[in-house]
Amino acid sequence: MELGLKGKVAIVAASSQGMGRATAAAFAAEGCKIAMCARNEQTLALAAESIRKQYSAEVFSCALDVTDAGAVRFVEEVVLRFGAADICVTNAGGPPAKGFLAASMEDWQKAIEANFMSAVYFAREVIPHMQRRRWGRIITLTSITTKQPLADLVLSNTVRAAVVGLVKSLANEFGKDGILVNNVGPGFTATDRLKELARSRSAASGTAEKEIFEGWAADAPLRRLGEPEEVADTIVWLASDRASYVTGQTVLVDGGMYKGL
Ligand SMILES: NC(=O)c1ccc[n+]([C@@H]2O[C@H](COP(=O)([O-])OP(=O)(O)OC[C@H]3O[C@@H](n4cnc5c(N)ncnc54)[C@H](OP(=O)(O)O)[C@@H]3O)[C@@H](O)[C@H]2O)c1
Repeated sequence: MELGLKGKVAIVAASSQGMGRATAAAFAAEGCKIAMCARNEQTLALAAESIRKQYSAEVFSCALDVTDAGAVRFVEEVVLRFGAADICVTNAGGPPAKGFLAASMEDWQKAIEANFMSAVYFAREVIPHMQRRRWGRIITLTSITTKQPLADLVLSNTVRAAVVGLVKSLANEFGKDGILVNNVGPGFTATDRLKELARSRSAASGTAEKEIFEGWAADAPLRRLGEPEEVADTIVWLASDRASYVTGQTVLVDGGMYKGL
């Protein structure tokens, strides 16, 4: 299937590992120019180099924290180097697994910065460039919690809902400019973030991590965890010409875990 992505510039935030990295690699495989970022410079440089080599792709990487609005201006540098900011995938590390009374005010502030404001920062930077070219795709990488709140994830359950409000609002406001805005919500996906969640659940409940993983897999009708590449493929499809009449939506990549209609 021709996706129409060759030569497009794809910015993927928080992309040195996990689903962000898989997404950057998937865009590179489609012939996009890639801009990657994450906080740890070394891990990021390794990920960028590996994608550059594997796909002979043009890859620009910049170590930054997506909660720093000033640093997100690296979008300007992407545009200087590559001439455009066609596609932007927002992403950040997830908030800690906590119940309401265990979450501190600092936890709330950090979750708002990382999992909501970072999407605002990126959207503010890329939209004017997308408007100029009358073509753009913004895809927020969030969680199944945008549809179905999960136990002990009050920070994710709450803050990510705001992202969906932002996605729908941006889709409404900028559809006239050819900018499509969608949200992707992964279910349990085999990345380091999930190992971290399993560790904290295991410490809190005394249940072995292996059993926690089995429980997560059993939660989905497909009876397994998702792979980062499966999330990445959905993001790439949403960015492509094959999804040209899809905007303002949340697409879950959860093996059927969401219980609603
Ligand atoms: N895995 C799952 O099952 C699952 C399910 C639903 C939702 N999610 C959510 O999806 C997102 C990605 O998850 P993942 O599993 O792919 O995570 P991951 O494997 O832990 O990778 C997180 C990536 O984000 C970067 N990052 C984290 N905080 C950052 C910041 N403030 N600024 C810049 N880069 C940052 C990390 O690099 P540095 O640490 O070097 O910055 C790393 O590259 C998270 O928000 C997570 O909560 C995950």
